[in-house]
Amino acid sequence: MSDSIHLTDNRTGKSYDLPVTHGTIRAMDLRQIKTGPEDFGLMTYDPAFMNTASCMSSITYIDGDRGILRYRGYPIEELAAKCTFLDVAWLLLNGELPNSEESVEWAHKIRYHTMIHENLKKFMEGFRHDAHPMGMLMSTVAALSTFYPESRDVKNKQSRKMQIMRLIGKMPTIAAYAYRHNLGLPYVYPDNTLGYTSNFLSMLWKMTEPKYDANPVLAKALDILFILHADHEQNCSTNTMRAVGSSQADPYLSLAAASAALAGPLHGGANEEVLLMLDEIGSLSNVHAFVDKVKAGQCKLMGFGHRVYKNYDPRAKIIKQTAEEVFKVTGANPKLEIAIELEQIALRDEYFIKRKLYPNVDFYSGIIYQAMGFHPAMFTVLFAIPRTVGWLTQWQELVDDGEQKIARPRQIYTGHDERHVGQPVEEHAVSVAR
Ligand code: CMC
Repeated sequence: MSDSIHLTDNRTGKSYDLPVTHGTIRAMDLRQIKTGPEDFGLMTYDPAFMNTASCMSSITYIDGDRGILRYRGYPIEELAAKCTFLDVAWLLLNGELPNSEESVEWAHKIRYHTMIHENLKKFMEGFRHDAHPMGMLMSTVAALSTFYPESRDVKNKQSRKMQIMRLIGKMPTIAAYAYRHNLGLPYVYPDNTLGYTSNFLSMLWKMTEPKYDANPVLAKALDILFILHADHEQNCSTNTMRAVGSSQADPYLSLAAASAALAGPLHGGANEEVLLMLDEIGSLSNVHAFVDKVKAGQCKLMGFGHRVYKNYDPRAKIIKQTAEEVFKVTGANPKLEIAIELEQIALRDEYFIKRKLYPNVDFYSGIIYQAMGFHPAMFTVLFAIPRTVGWLTQWQELVDDGEQKIARPRQIYTGHDERHVGQPVEEHAVSVAR
């Protein structure tokens, strides 16, 4: 049996054999299927990319039906249990886990890119006191582009490596400054004696003490959450990173665009929405009524459902375990019982079962973040820090992929056929006035 598909065009009676590789036909192979020489050729129509592979990628594997997520072949459960976020970042970017020498050197390099230019700090000071931290983050990342004009040379591998280290190093600093800005607190400079997440916590919460010692359980929990959020193949923001990157825009601009995509409530903004939803529900006694509203189509159960996972989201499971560790330190978030009750009802209810709706990564992450002391507006920023690694890895793969070109989908035009302007508008207006 050959790896091809046999098609007959009933419009013309002609037959075609199209090769099938990786369970896929090439959309461009359809172009030869025409009704005549004037015909453009057959296209596919796929709004929201429900069934279109836009790239070949060796980074992240997801089997949504079996709830499997792997980075470079390693199950997410093992990475979360045994690795640090920075080692996972190295794995994603380089394809292999680092040895101990590489791991130390990598952490050192990232640490020495955590400072931001004082002018960038001033730029951030210009935001309103109550600016949404996600808006601050994405604008500041775009502004970074003006500080590193050499980043425009996207074909230069050495320069690319430098921008990648800068971005991974600087994202927590920008995020922490955005947080402090909201609270009216002075910005805290990075402390290069600390690890990635401990340093981030220090920049967030250091007050007058000379050195901030993060609670190791919280620093570890954040590190695990960062691992879980590091990459997720061709989601909305990664697709944005690739689409903008395909025009050869520099990585700061592409990443700012990716963060904008992440900010939406159906994507990374969902974690903030979950907390707002739990606030709206308020107490256990209101949970049933809220589920009825969801089933009546009046609102969504935020933190539920996924385009790819139709069984369970493996990240949600790990987050639930991590929550237990965090709550031992912080005390339980009272919203946890509302969330658990929602989950229990939803998992038994025909509406959710039929549509294969399960808790996703955002359902429990916000509850942990809030218990740790973050306000909901920061939650998506906490998603953007680790996803920076995934965006950059995907961008790097795109730039090195000889098959990729500028992203440019087709459309099916449904507007008017050619028509002509009658009386010029101005003249018409004058004649009406007369
Ligand atoms: N609550 C209630 N109904 C839902 C939900 C939900 N959260 N999600 C999907 N549905 C329903 C939807 O109305 C549709 O019903 P019907 O067939 O009767 O029209 C059916 O389930 C299929 O949904 P869909 O909209 O076709 O699914 P999608 O793959 O286009 O959307 C999603 C996926 C994640 C955008 C969607 O499930 C959603 O809006 N969830 C809530 C927001 C959320 O939690 N987003 C985070 C996603 S995971 C992390 C990330 O990507 O950042």
